[in-house]
Amino acid sequence: VLIPAPYWVSYPDIVLLADASPVALPTDLSTRFKITPQQLEAAITPNSRLLVLNSPSNPTGSIYTRAELAALAEVLIAHPQVWIATDDMYEHIRWTGEDYANIVNVCAELKPRTLVLNGVSKAYAMTGWRIGYAAGDARVIAAMAKVQSQSTSNPCSISQVAAIAALNGKQDFLQQMVEAFKERHDYVVGALQQMPGVECAPADGAFYSFPSFVGVMERLGIDDDVVLCEQILEQAQVALVPGSAFGSPGYVRLSYATSMETLREAMRRLKRFLDA
Ligand SMILES: Cc1ncc(COP(=O)(O)O)c(C=O)c1O
Repeated sequence: VLIPAPYWVSYPDIVLLADASPVALPTDLSTRFKITPQQLEAAITPNSRLLVLNSPSNPTGSIYTRAELAALAEVLIAHPQVWIATDDMYEHIRWTGEDYANIVNVCAELKPRTLVLNGVSKAYAMTGWRIGYAAGDARVIAAMAKVQSQSTSNPCSISQVAAIAALNGKQDFLQQMVEAFKERHDYVVGALQQMPGVECAPADGAFYSFPSFVGVMERLGIDDDVVLCEQILEQAQVALVPGSAFGSPGYVRLSYATSMETLREAMRRLKRFLDA
């Protein structure tokens, strides 16, 4: 299973649980953490079965453009054994001004072998209500339902009704929500870019920043991002997730799903830690 890195932490473990082998496709700031068609082509073997795409991405906030998706689709067309799982969880949290598109929106030919995954956790602030949904080949969905119903039981009826209301109800609050995330994004990225040793690219959506702290680690003589994040947690009381958890050591992930006031304080503390 091909997984572009940095990836949402759970993907490799989900793959291992299914007795398959996760294969990371490393990316960095130079492509805004997006895989290229050449990289995808080089990574596919006769054993490849699935490519995982996540746009907007957790942890980078990057979004694949329609043209970038079309170029990946062209590679995938030539490899019919490779299915695609598109995790569209952050579909509504974007500020690129472009309409949302996943790979099947761009290339309908891939529809029979694509699983579209989504949920109400992010756009409707319903994390913990445990409602996700998937669309794809009826045989695969039936098999997923069989495993799900025997392992985690059912999502509670209250969550189900609330999710229906969230999905079918008015969506006008989304704009206000996205504006708030954009304001926080601009503030956090601006603050991080001014910190010595930190390299931070702007994001297109979601609510994360994924700056490189390689310069900071070199300066402090720390070669493990877990140690760095522990020190920042203990000394500055700011919780960052080490990039190695997402398959990209040397970076850290910062969530701005919190208030501007908390973020200002966090940036003050982080700056104090780095200036010391
Ligand atoms: C990319 C991505 N996919 C899926 C999920 C799953 O969310 P939930 O378990 O709340 O449905 C998350 C949550 O962090 C995520 O970031």
